[in-house]
Amino acid sequence: NMNVQIVSDKIAGGQAGYQVFETALQQGAKVLGLATGSTPVTIYDRLVASDLDFSQLTSVNLDEYVGLSADHPQSYHYFMQQHLFDAKPFAHSYVPDGTNLDEQAATTAYDDIIAANPIDLQLLGLGQNGHIGFNEPGTPADSTTHKVALTASTIAANARFFDNADEVPRYAYSMGIGSILKAKQILIVAYGEAKAAAVAAMIQGPVTPDVPASFLQTHPNVTVILDEAAASRLD
Ligand code: F6R
Repeated sequence: NMNVQIVSDKIAGGQAGYQVFETALQQGAKVLGLATGSTPVTIYDRLVASDLDFSQLTSVNLDEYVGLSADHPQSYHYFMQQHLFDAKPFAHSYVPDGTNLDEQAATTAYDDIIAANPIDLQLLGLGQNGHIGFNEPGTPADSTTHKVALTASTIAANARFFDNADEVPRYAYSMGIGSILKAKQILIVAYGEAKAAAVAAMIQGPVTPDVPASFLQTHPNVTVILDEAAASRLD
């Protein structure tokens, strides 16, 4: 079920990822699920350089820091504006509302958005520990949008981007694994040796909450784009 493509580098991965988007749009995709992080950047660059038109489409992002507004430079909403939305506006772009501190209201509202806008193609990056979105090891397969406590190492790594320790986000809102698995098609991308163990566990290991990405083995339509280093521990 997992269609694995091995590419030479991130630029080739951007092209391969672009082609998955182009084909999905040709086949009528209307709702695109998007991710932040370093991995999708070459795909977004390629989409921005293309003549694809998103102005009639809807985007739904995976996650956002609690407490950060769309105009905060460290917010995921801001990242999306910089890397894609400013150049390629969508009719509607949804990102979890980090400014809504009411967990119940924020997560329910996002689940309602996903239900009203079923995702045709969901783009994912992969964490070194096998996470997808902010779904860390231990997250159940049927999870919906939820509030996640960031790990101490993530909080420490983020601190340098903030003037004041009080501003560093302690929590994020993330789509759940169940929300992700509802997408019609999934594209997951990973580059580099640091992801190789997670890639092998995702594709060839047991399906287990210990490796959230392993739940993708249960999905009927997953494309995996890897560079040689990320693929190096596959049998
Ligand atoms: C991003 C996200 C994360 C990243 C993952 C990989 O919206 O939800 O799961 O996809 O942490 O990050 P990078 O691409 O920076 O290696």
